Amino acid sequence: MAEKVIVTREIPASGLSVLEPFDVTVLYERPPERDELLEAVHGVSGILSTATEKVDGEVMDAAGESLKVIANMAVGYDNVDVEAAAERGVVVTNTPGVLDETTADVAFMLLLAAARRLGEGERLLRAGRWEWWGPKQLLGQDVWGKRLGIVGFGRIGQSVARRARGFGMEILYHNRSRNPEAEKELDARYLDLDELLETADFVSIHTPLTDETRHLIGAPELEKMKPSAVLVNTSRGPVVDEAALADALEERRIFAAGLDVYEDEPGVHPKLLDPENAVLAPHIGSASVETRDRMAVLAAENIVAVLSGEEPKTPVNG
Ligand code: DGY
Repeated sequence: MAEKVIVTREIPASGLSVLEPFDVTVLYERPPERDELLEAVHGVSGILSTATEKVDGEVMDAAGESLKVIANMAVGYDNVDVEAAAERGVVVTNTPGVLDETTADVAFMLLLAAARRLGEGERLLRAGRWEWWGPKQLLGQDVWGKRLGIVGFGRIGQSVARRARGFGMEILYHNRSRNPEAEKELDARYLDLDELLETADFVSIHTPLTDETRHLIGAPELEKMKPSAVLVNTSRGPVVDEAALADALEERRIFAAGLDVYEDEPGVHPKLLDPENAVLAPHIGSASVETRDRMAVLAAENIVAVLSGEEPKTPVNG
C-alpha cells in the first residue's frame, strides 16, 4: 500500500505530480485549523507544510511513528520545531535557492515604492484627490547612488545587493560571519549592526527568524537610523518590533518602511495601517508563478527522496 502524504495547503499541480507514487491528501486553500491539522496528519509518512502551519512535537506525535519527513515549502522554517523532529528521527527540509531572485525583486520593489511614495501617490490618485502636478508634491528619496545596508547577507541579501549595484548604490552589510567572496564580488563593506544603521540610507532585512534575531530591529535600533532612511523587511515579521516601527513611522523618525511580513500574520499592527509612509504587502516575497512551482516541486522531491531512503536535496537538520 502506498505511503500517506499530507499536503497542508493547495499547492501548484507541478508539486502534486511529483507525489503521484503516494496516497496524497491535500487539505485546503486556507490554512488548516489546529485541530484539523492534528486529525489530518494521523498515520502519514510525510507532511508537506507551508510557513502558516506550526509543525511542532504535538503534530509529529499526532502523525505517529510512520512520520519520516516534514518538507516545508518555504526557505524559512521557524514554523517547524526542528529539535522535536530530530528527537523523533524525522527529517526536515526547506526550499532554499529557488526563491532568492523572486524575493529580492519584492525587496527592491518595496524599497523603491517606499522611497518614492508610490502607495501614498496611488491612494491619492484613486481617491480622486490628485488635483494638480506640483513642484513640491510627493517628494521622495533618491535611490540611485545611495547607501544600502543589508542585514543578513545570505543568498537573498546578496541578490538584493546585485540589484542595488545596478542602481549605483554602495553596499554595506551585517551578518553573523563575514563573507570575503561576496564582499569582493559585490564590493560590499562589512559593518557592525549599529554602524550600519547609522550610516545606511536604506536598510533591508534578510535574516532568518531565530531567538537571536527576534526584535533585532526595535526602538533603540530605529533610533539609530537616519530620519531620511527607509527600512525594508521581507524576511520574517518578528525580526522587527512592529509597535516600535509604527511609532517611528508615525513620528517621522525614519522616512518610510516597506514591509512584506508581519509579527502576527495575517494580522498587522493597527498603528501600521495609518501612516502614509508604510508600504504594506501581504507576504508575497516568493509569490510568482514560476517560483511557487519550483518551491512545490523541490518540497515534493524532498519527500520522495526521504520516503525512498535517499538523501533529500535540501535538509535543514542533516
Ligand atoms: C519563505 O519561503 O520563507 C517565504 O516567506 C514563504 O513562506
